[in-house]
Formats: sequence, structure tokens, C-alpha cells
Amino acid sequence: MEKLLQELAHYRAEIQATQAPDAAALEAFRIRWLGTKGLVKAIMGEMKNVPAEERKAFGQTLNEFKQMAEQHFETLKTALGETAPPPAARSAKSATALDYTLPGDPLTVGSRHPLNLVRDQMISIFKRLGFVVAEGPEIEDDWHNFGAMNLPEDHPARDMQDTFYLRPTAAPTDAQQKWLLRTHTSSVQARVMENQKPPIRVICPGRVYRNETVSARAHCFFHQVEGLYIAENVSFADLKQTLYFFVQEMFGNDVKVRFRPSYFPFTEPSAEMDISCLICKGKGCNICKHSGWVEILGSGMVHPKVLENFGIDPERYTGFAFGMGVERITQLKYQVNDLRLYSQNDIRFLKQFTGVI
Ligand code: DAH
Repeated sequence: MEKLLQELAHYRAEIQATQAPDAAALEAFRIRWLGTKGLVKAIMGEMKNVPAEERKAFGQTLNEFKQMAEQHFETLKTALGETAPPPAARSAKSATALDYTLPGDPLTVGSRHPLNLVRDQMISIFKRLGFVVAEGPEIEDDWHNFGAMNLPEDHPARDMQDTFYLRPTAAPTDAQQKWLLRTHTSSVQARVMENQKPPIRVICPGRVYRNETVSARAHCFFHQVEGLYIAENVSFADLKQTLYFFVQEMFGNDVKVRFRPSYFPFTEPSAEMDISCLICKGKGCNICKHSGWVEILGSGMVHPKVLENFGIDPERYTGFAFGMGVERITQLKYQVNDLRLYSQNDIRFLKQFTGVI
């Protein structure tokens, strides 16, 4: 007993004298004193050799000793944590560790295609006037692309648009079974009128195809945005005001517009709209062919026959329609003067549109 108490005093002095300059020393202290095979545990085991009447007092001494050892361990641990080197320096020591302080590898971010940017801007302008987006198929039948739009078989106006026909698997029995790549988004008008009752207020963005030789000024596919508004009392004044609003939102308040009488089989009366040339500000340049004006769209009041084709009473309802090319609007906004650039996927061209809108 006496011997045990002497040993304890000796151990206590040893513990209190122990320092832990690094993590290894701290761990060595833990193993020697507090580990499962450590001295504290071994001394506790001595309890069974202590006479019963002294056990209580000795137990208390042992507990205090144990707490003192644990306390010292905590003190060493805290002291070590405070002086520990920062994570970066620590990881630099190890070849496999990640260094979170290094700058990341730059990721090159793509840009949106100019035609998509302009199309979305067009949509958002018309949405503010209450138009909703409608879409239709790019592979169309003759009826929706031509017939319903008042271009019956043999109508000379069909020559206005050189069409890609799809090779039929069986001989077509009537016009409806002729399949083609739509030549204009006016075909979506037909699909909307087929499925909806007035009031109708839609814009139809989409890709269209024409059998053209590809050059800077013509392409075998391009993009249009079509508009259609049918309700009671819709007038030509509404058409003009809608398109004027669009142009101002798209190109700014300084741009001037003019309407010229024109012809489209699906509208009567029909008009083309020009805007003052943004490139030369009306003075005359190559883009406006020195006229100071550039044509941007076709439009008109929906032909009564077109309404009748879909069971809409032309005595009760009137409507206007318009169609314009997204490439043309993009050309005027960003001076893109070669239509081929839009589909060549040249990154030097495309990346110029990063963050433009
Ligand atoms: N579909 C015509 C074209 O492709 C554009 C057009 C003109 C659409 C007048 C219309 C319209 O809706 O009213 O050239």
C-alpha cells in the first residue's frame, strides 16, 4: 500500500513534467498513460490487492490520479492544436494531399448562338403584348404549308418558295399526302387555327427550308417568327401598332418604319414593312442598297378564305398575321453579312456573342 502510494507520487511527477511538442509525442503520452494497456488502467487493477477497509480511500486517490492524467492529456492536446501549422503547409508536406489553396483550372464557358439570343428577345417582346408561343412540325404536309394558307395546287405563288419535297413511300393520292419540309412558319398558323378558337394570339418561332443554292445571301434553311392575332374588331391599325412596338423594343426609339403594299395569298390586304437602315442611319449603304430602308417582314390581314378553312366566321372575326426572318433581324442588329456564318460553327464568330444581350 505504502509502496503503491509512493509509485503514484512518482508517476504524478512524471506526467506533469511531460511535454508534447508534436502529434507523435502526444500520441505516445496517450498510449503510455491512458491507452487500454496504459499505466492508469494497470494501477486501477491494483485495487483488488488493497485491503477492504482501505479500498474506499484508495479508490478516491486513484480516481484523482486518473483525472489528473486525463486533464494533462487535454492540456497538451489543446496546446498542440494552437501551434499546429495551417492546413496548406501541412498538405504541402505530403505528396498525395490536395492543396485547396491553389487556384482552380479555368473552365471555358460557351456562348449562346446569336440566332437563339435574337429569337428569344423577339419572343419576350411579343410576350409582353400577350402573345404565347406555338410550335409545329418541320416536316409538313401540303395542306398545312400551302393549301390551308390559300395557295391551292397550281397557284403561281407556290413558285415564290422553292420547296424540298420528301420522297413518298407510296404514290400520293391527293395533295394532303405530299410531304415536304415547311417553307415558312405560316404552316403553324394553320395548325393553331385547327386546334384553337378565337381569340388567338400566338407567335411561332421555328426553322424553315427552301431549295436555294447556299451563298452569303441565301441558305437552304433559315428561321422565322410568325405572328397571328384573331379576335373581334382586330384592325390594320392594331397590326401597325404591334409591329411598331416590336421595332422600337428591338432597335430603339430612333428607328423609323414604313409599310409598302404587297401580296401574300394568305393575307388581304398585305404589306411589307421596312425600317430605316441602322447601318448608315438612312444615308445609303450596301445593306440598304442605297435606299436608306431595309425590308424586315411581311404582314397583312388574315384572308377570309384562310379563316373559313378552319371554320372561323370572317364576318365575326378578323385578324392580322406577320412573318419575319430571325437571320435578317440578327444581321441588322449585329452586322452579320454572310448567312453561312450562322451554321458553320466557327468559334471565332460564335464567341463574339458572349453576354451581348
Ligand atoms: N410566310 C411569308 C414568307 O415566308 C411571310 C409572311 C408574310 C407571313 C405575310 C405572314 C404574313 O404571316 O402575313 O415569306
